[in-house]
Amino acid sequence: MDLATASQKLQHNGFLDLDVNPELDLVAEIQRLKKEKNAVILAHYYQESEIQDVADYIGDSLGLSQQAAATDADIIVFAGVHFMAETAKMLSPNKKVLLPDLKAGCSLADSCPPHLFRKFKEKHPDHIVVSYINCTAELKTLTDICCTSTNALAIIESLPKDQKIIFAPDKNLGQYLIKKTGRDMVLWNGACMVHEIFSHERIVKLRVRHPNAKFIAHPECEPHILDMADFIGSTTGLLKYTIHDASQEFIVATEAGILHQMQKSSPHKTFIPAPPTNQCACNDCPHMKRNTMEKLYLCMEYEQPEILLPDWIIEQGVKSIDRMLEISEKAGLGLKG
Ligand code: 13P
Ligand code: SF4
Repeated sequence: MDLATASQKLQHNGFLDLDVNPELDLVAEIQRLKKEKNAVILAHYYQESEIQDVADYIGDSLGLSQQAAATDADIIVFAGVHFMAETAKMLSPNKKVLLPDLKAGCSLADSCPPHLFRKFKEKHPDHIVVSYINCTAELKTLTDICCTSTNALAIIESLPKDQKIIFAPDKNLGQYLIKKTGRDMVLWNGACMVHEIFSHERIVKLRVRHPNAKFIAHPECEPHILDMADFIGSTTGLLKYTIHDASQEFIVATEAGILHQMQKSSPHKTFIPAPPTNQCACNDCPHMKRNTMEKLYLCMEYEQPEILLPDWIIEQGVKSIDRMLEISEKAGLGLKG
C-alpha cells in the first residue's frame, strides 16, 4: 500500500498499513527519529519487551501522566493504549501526540460509555465522581477527580469522610478501595478483561508446587484473587515489591508484560505469570499488544496516527487529571524517574 492510501485508510485500519523492510534496524531507526524530531517515547509496562527497551520512559499510568505533563519534547509517542495517549494530549495540548495503533483500546474504558454514565450520575446528584484513569477522555469530562492504581487510596482518603462517592469504571478496584478505606462508594459495573481471567484453582495448585513463592496481584483482579495475595499494588508497586522483597520466586497476577522489567531488575529471581482460567495466554492484553516495533517506527516516520481531541473535551477533562496530580504531589507520589 502507498502512503496516500495508507493515510486514507488510517481510521479504518487503526495504523499505517505500510510494508517495512524486514532488514531495517528498527531500534537504530527509532533512535534516529527520536533525535531528529525531538520526540519522546513513553511506554507502559504492558508493552512488548522490545518497545520497552527503546522507550525513554517506562512506567505505570501515574508515572506516564506525570511524564506527559513535564516533557519538553515536541512529539510524544505513546506506546500504550488510546486512553493513555488521550491523557497525554489533555496534559500537553500543544504537542503532537502519536499512538502507533489507534485501535489499541481498553475493555475497561469501553465498559463505561459516557452517555450511560451521565444518566447514572444523574441518579446520584450529591456524589462526587472519582474515575480510574482507564476511561475515555469524554468520561473524564464527567469526572471530578481521576486516580490510578498507585494513588487511588490517597485520592479517596483525601476526601471528607461524609463525602458521597461514585467510583468508575472498575468495580474490582472499587471493591478493593471500599475494603481498604471502609468508605461506602457507589460502583460502576466495569472490569478489565485481562485481570478477570485468573484462575483461583490453578493459582492455589501453583502455590502448592512453589511454597516459597510470593503471590502478588494488581487491584484490578477480582476480590477472590486479591484475598489470596501476599501483596497488592499497581504495576510500579508490584515491580518495586519484587526488587525489595527477599523472596526468590513470585507468582504475578497482572498483564505478563511487566515480567520483562521484573526480570531485568532482579535477574536471579524467578517470575511466574499467574495462570488464567483456560490454557491460552490471556493475561497478555490484546489492546496493549496491538503496538509493534514496525507500527512504532512507521508512526514516528510519518507522524501518524495522531491523537486529536475537541477543545471542550481537553478543557473540561483535564481538570480531573490536574486534581489527581495535585493530590498525588501532596501525598508524596511525585514525578518518578
Ligand atoms: P497501572 O500500570 O497504572 O497499574 O495500570 C494497569 C493497567 O491496567 C493499565 O492499563
Ligand atoms: Fe485496559 Fe485491562 Fe488492557 Fe489495561 S490491561 S489496557 S485495563 S484491557
